[in-house]
Amino acid sequence: MKRIGVAIIGCGNIAKNHVEAYLAFPDRCRILAVCDIYKDKAREFAARYAVQDVDVEEDYHELLSRADIDLVSICLPPSQHCQVSMDFMQAGKDVVCEKPMAASLEEADRMNRMAEQTGRLLSVISQNRYKNDLFKVKRLLDSRVLGRVLMVRVNSMWYRGSNYYDLWWRGTWENEGGGCTLNHSVHQIDLLNHLVGKPLSVLSVIDNLNHDNSEVEDASISILRYPRMLAQIDVTLCDHDEKQEILIITENATISVPWSLHAVRQLPNGFFEVDEKAMAAIQKRFDAIPDLMHEGHDGQILNVLKAISKEEVLEVSGHDGRNALELIYAIYQSATEKREVELPLDRNSAFYTKEGMLRVVPKFFKKTKSVDNLSGEITLGRN
Ligand SMILES: NC(=O)c1ccc[n+]([C@@H]2O[C@H](COP(=O)([O-])OP(=O)(O)OC[C@H]3O[C@@H](n4cnc5c(N)ncnc54)[C@H](O)[C@@H]3O)[C@@H](O)[C@H]2O)c1
Repeated sequence: MKRIGVAIIGCGNIAKNHVEAYLAFPDRCRILAVCDIYKDKAREFAARYAVQDVDVEEDYHELLSRADIDLVSICLPPSQHCQVSMDFMQAGKDVVCEKPMAASLEEADRMNRMAEQTGRLLSVISQNRYKNDLFKVKRLLDSRVLGRVLMVRVNSMWYRGSNYYDLWWRGTWENEGGGCTLNHSVHQIDLLNHLVGKPLSVLSVIDNLNHDNSEVEDASISILRYPRMLAQIDVTLCDHDEKQEILIITENATISVPWSLHAVRQLPNGFFEVDEKAMAAIQKRFDAIPDLMHEGHDGQILNVLKAISKEEVLEVSGHDGRNALELIYAIYQSATEKREVELPLDRNSAFYTKEGMLRVVPKFFKKTKSVDNLSGEITLGRN
């Protein structure tokens, strides 16, 4: 099998997860180039992860005409995802783009059109789909053993210090595309779409509670309507923790990611008792689903490599990335206009384009401090 030639664009925090994933599958691929506007950073990055025989570039355009590069990981700030992904797809490369897919829905649509026109694969990172609990809960829901989903509560409650927003591209609508609803809860929002489909409408509030070097929100609460189903998404960067939880109430049980299970039986007076038998049966179904061979970025990148060699279908596409963005920009529209917003998001809405959104979104605080780099390891959220 020909090994897939890979380039990594942007050698900051998240690039580590891409490199480790590609290095985990040496029979399938090899990293040929890394690129960062800070060439030394790219060079140190390649050395740190012992990437052998790799070319180091500071301008990604140098890589567009390289016939040996087949696949590119875009690990850049969100406002650059669209242009750089489009350039590589136009040059005939498949693309793995970090979340969030883009800094507007209009950009996401352009990226998907480019993928269709060029016949390239475009995958948007949603590594939490490749976590055992989530994967098994999805399988359970699809098996219909739980009956209808009635209500879902999503927590994306994280902590980021006030200096988090000192990094140059964070904390402005222009460069980051949004606040924690976009950049952090995009994980959970993709999972929600993946588990229960798209909502009919959303009603949201957003605010900035404790990050005053930032224009964007650090908290949002949203209520979503579906046919005979409701959901709530709570998002913040002020929680002294890094929780990612999805609670799912179905006709037959209440389950969650991370995994928990409760099932009750009704009593003649309408109250309940624990239904041990039902719980045991559901737990048995859950336990019978085999663990994933690879979790997180490794799992998703392996799927992309197998999709390129036509062994599997692409599991997380640009359309999935777009669906998450659509809900997020509907949240921003609802919060800004103080009303319930229906999906699909109207292409004539100010919230469809970046320029339109920049005109109308609240800018909570003026960003006055900006640094080129922040040092130190990052965390990716528990579970
Ligand atoms: N999947 C996850 O869990 C996860 C976690 C963290 C970040 N991310 C996402 O990854 C993306 C990058 O985030 P990060 O935290 O790694 O940011 P970062 O700022 O640490 O890294 C970005 C890198 O890109 C470089 N860069 C900027 N413009 C460039 C250009 N035109 N050409 C080449 N290099 C360029 C910067 O110098 C920097 O080294 C963001 O979209 C972010 O939301 C995803």
